[in-house]
Amino acid sequence: MQVLERIAEVRAFRKQVGRLAFVPTMGNLHDGHLSLLRASRPHCDAVLTSIFVNRLQFGPNEDFDRYPRTREDDLALLEAAGCEAVFYPTEATLYPQPQVVAVDPPGELTSILCGAFRPGHFKGVTTVVAKLFNIVQPDVAAFGLKDYQQYFLIRQMVEQLEIPVQLLAVDTGRAEDGLALSSRNRYLNPGERAEAPRLYRLLQQVATTVGRGEDASQACQQAMAELEQSGWQPQYLEVRDADSLLPVAETSRHKVVLAAAYLGKTRLIDNLMF
Ligand code: PAJ
Repeated sequence: MQVLERIAEVRAFRKQVGRLAFVPTMGNLHDGHLSLLRASRPHCDAVLTSIFVNRLQFGPNEDFDRYPRTREDDLALLEAAGCEAVFYPTEATLYPQPQVVAVDPPGELTSILCGAFRPGHFKGVTTVVAKLFNIVQPDVAAFGLKDYQQYFLIRQMVEQLEIPVQLLAVDTGRAEDGLALSSRNRYLNPGERAEAPRLYRLLQQVATTVGRGEDASQACQQAMAELEQSGWQPQYLEVRDADSLLPVAETSRHKVVLAAAYLGKTRLIDNLMF
């Protein structure tokens, strides 16, 4: 596996391989990330993963500094997974000057759900992903549906800016008890880890209740109340049209229930399509 640190090295690698799949990450890799590699495999001759903790997408009071950085473990996992190359840039490589040019997704979609609690977050995500796409020039790029709003905004960017990349949306990888795999799970203490699967269980309950025709806002309120009673600080738990992320309408064909909640100091997100 080649470890590429400079943009010129990535461009040279890109020229040598045929169909290239790209898996952008912030590292601290787990099986959810590796599932993106596995999903990419049939679509390409080589997979390039990037590892970069992107300061632009963290708010001033968020966990940029303490975000887990586990270079050696990550490289070993990627090597074992058969990844052909890793792009591991420093901040000076990716942002040699302050990044003043940005991709700014529309307010209707960045002021809702996670965007309402993380101002500027999605602008930071789409900007770095556009930049990485321009560096890597992949044929295919894989993203996890665990970050549903992120995937949605990246898909819209690719469509509207005519970026020549085929996107793969990969189902959420979960632990056996249902908890969505996440780099942030390592912040949970044992008691919190035992409590954490409640979030997914509640999403399943809401999906079942709303799926059989009951009122969505009441189901969401009840689920939020149960989270609070169990010691969580929920930020949102909402049912949305899965194809537009707008509120559910009569015409909605697919729905998704999405949530974000703090368990202690750890912010967890999850969603379920139904
Ligand atoms: P990160 O949180 O490291 O996630 C990298 C990719 O892995 C994303 O596409 C994410 O949706 C996917 N992923 C994470 N957990 C997953 C799980 N349990 N199952 C399936 N896929 C999962 O998302 C980011 O980094 C950044 O915002 C990034 C896109 C790299 C831009 O900086």
